[in-house]
Amino acid sequence: MKTEPIVPADILFDDGVPFAPAFGDVYHPRAGALGQAEHVFLRGNALPSRWQGRPRFVVLETGFGLGNNFLATWEAWRHDPRRCEALHFISIEKHPPRREALQQAHAHSPLHALAAQLMESWPPPTPNLHLLPFEGGRVRLLLALGDVAHWLPELLAEVDAFYLDGFAPAKNPAMWEPRLMKAIARLAAPGATAATWSVARAVREGLSDAGFEVRGAPGYQGKAQMSVARFAPRVIPPRPPGRRSAVCGRSEALVIGAGLAGAAITQALAGHGWTCTVIDRQPEPAAETSGNPAGLFHGIVTAEDGAHARFHRSAALRAQQHHRQAVAQGVPGRVDGLLRLAPEQDRAALQALVDRQGLPHEFVQAVDSGQASALAGVTLSAPAWFYPGGGWLAPAAWSRWALSAAARCLWHARVDRLEPVGERWRAISGDGQVLAEADVAVLANAHDALRLLGQPAWPVGRARGQVSLVQSDWQPALPIAGTGYAIGLGDGRLLCGATSQPGYLHEGVRDSDTDHNLAQLQRLSGRVFTPEQLITSRVGWRMLTDDRLPLLGPVPVLGATGPRLEQPRQVPRQPGLYTLCALGSRGITWAPLAAEVLAAWISGAPVPLETGLLDSVDAARFVSRAVRRAAR
Ligand SMILES: Cc1cc2nc3c(=O)[nH]c(=O)nc-3n(C[C@H](O)[C@H](O)[C@H](O)COP(=O)(O)OP(=O)(O)OC[C@H]3O[C@@H](n4cnc5c(N)ncnc54)[C@H](O)[C@@H]3O)c2cc1C
Ligand SMILES: C[S@@+](CC[C@H](N)C(=O)[O-])C[C@H]1O[C@@H](n2cnc3c(N)ncnc32)[C@H](O)[C@@H]1O
Repeated sequence: MKTEPIVPADILFDDGVPFAPAFGDVYHPRAGALGQAEHVFLRGNALPSRWQGRPRFVVLETGFGLGNNFLATWEAWRHDPRRCEALHFISIEKHPPRREALQQAHAHSPLHALAAQLMESWPPPTPNLHLLPFEGGRVRLLLALGDVAHWLPELLAEVDAFYLDGFAPAKNPAMWEPRLMKAIARLAAPGATAATWSVARAVREGLSDAGFEVRGAPGYQGKAQMSVARFAPRVIPPRPPGRRSAVCGRSEALVIGAGLAGAAITQALAGHGWTCTVIDRQPEPAAETSGNPAGLFHGIVTAEDGAHARFHRSAALRAQQHHRQAVAQGVPGRVDGLLRLAPEQDRAALQALVDRQGLPHEFVQAVDSGQASALAGVTLSAPAWFYPGGGWLAPAAWSRWALSAAARCLWHARVDRLEPVGERWRAISGDGQVLAEADVAVLANAHDALRLLGQPAWPVGRARGQVSLVQSDWQPALPIAGTGYAIGLGDGRLLCGATSQPGYLHEGVRDSDTDHNLAQLQRLSGRVFTPEQLITSRVGWRMLTDDRLPLLGPVPVLGATGPRLEQPRQVPRQPGLYTLCALGSRGITWAPLAAEVLAAWISGAPVPLETGLLDSVDAARFVSRAVRRAAR
């Protein structure tokens, strides 16, 4: 599904109460935003008492606005000694405020310290689901930028409390349509509640028709009434087999593979309270493909903005936040921009694409060769995409950093087979020893996942690649990618590469590939590099699907039968068995988001990816494609 560019909010602060001229309505009553949040939305949903003692509580708000309801809810959570372990707050906003508007709105707020954290994490206005973790990940804001009618059907979550806070129904009826109330009901967990200051008949009838029991309650400051509701449907349809979470109440996982994928899923699962055992056949983390001295991460812009580009954009936005934290904690790398040369187009064409897709300058800028040269500190002859949130990382160090979240790691331990034992999974070595056992197993062991799974019919190939590390006094100011790449590691070393040879199986380093990398580096930098400057070269194997997207999610039942298999969500899965592999040549960009998505899928938390894109990366998509092909 195509997404519309985001138009930030135009907000007037004339007499203290923020006002939206486009809607002719105020963001909150004069009596106070936080007072309304407390009275209408928290108390109207019986919070905080309803979240007390629970591992997780999920709120969904329509209309994030200036974030007052979110901040008030976060504050209430902070002050509640019996608070839930994790608070997930999903909010949908068509016209997000600019950071300066947030600043102005919260300048004198009693919650300005929390507002400052929100502003610090405030994402570029792209039509994505932006995951903003706070409190070490215990409070997670999932900000869906775009129209509520687009987003509600795209969410995968079980919501405990709804805050309905669009502008007044008379001024903004699009926010309160009966079909939206039905979409809300589809997301409701058993016992879910909803609250709004509105008493409009259409709102109450919409909620009631969608399965809520609605009643009036005393309104906030001068308003006689507000509406509160409890989800009490006659039937709750079961979730499709491909969209269920792992068995409730279980929380031990074994992760096979300690490269970027394994490290990322371990860290993400630990963030949801899981205990992970990681198993790898190598003596240390990231000793195979993920062990290059450095690698790039960045966004992407394509003319068609299809599933690949949209997944990549979501992942790049997550990666820049995630990697910033890693670098701040000592992982070698930089997150202050990357240039991707575009020699086949001129700057005006690049700019036209940015304008057409409404991509914000915080995400990408089209620069001419002069601007690109100034940014890189070297003469470049082509225009370029400049990604301000791109950069480079040392993937092995990153993997070690992420793996510190593991409960234990087993090295030199090759998993020969996986066996179900009751409702658990057991990893067995070649000599028959049980290496580990857990409720859930995640295959993050790249190509070898296919062998362990009994060769599912996934169209997957491998592409050999070689990078070269050279000694160099010259360092580009930013990583440059084009035909080949150059990354200055800031310590007199420079990484260049990479070759790509699909299907080619030569194991060791090849001199001809090293020569190729040095020649590319020479072309990029305009400098001569001699063989004496070479420190080393390294070979790895990219695992690629034929649609160039990763494989993630619960593993499909081999030879599955059943109705509507042409939809990945309907494909039956092997209980407790998951995969995260086929990161192609994008592991550093993709791993953080892919892992957050899979961890949420496993644990039943709100998934930080729209369902349209989830279908595009779902490990069951190839089953569905085969079914669709056969039906033609
Ligand atoms: C030359 C080259 C350059 C690249 N440059 C970039 C770049 O600039 N940016 C970028 O984002 N990506 C880049 N990539 C891609 C990136 O390296 C991969 O996407 C990523 O490393 C894949 O990670 P992974 O964890 O899936 O696989 P791997 O790193 O291969 O990890 C799999 C792990 O599973 C273990 N394992 C396998 N089978 C078993 C078993 N049976 N039992 C126990 N353990 C097992 C292995 O020992 C290994 O540690 C590049 C790749 C290559 C080859
Ligand atoms: C009353 S304000 C929300 C106030 C906010 N909850 C707070 O705590 O600050 C309503 C919000 O709904 C947003 N909105 C209006 N129409 C929308 C739509 N169709 N989809 C998503 N958001 C919409 C507006 O941009 C505005 O920010």
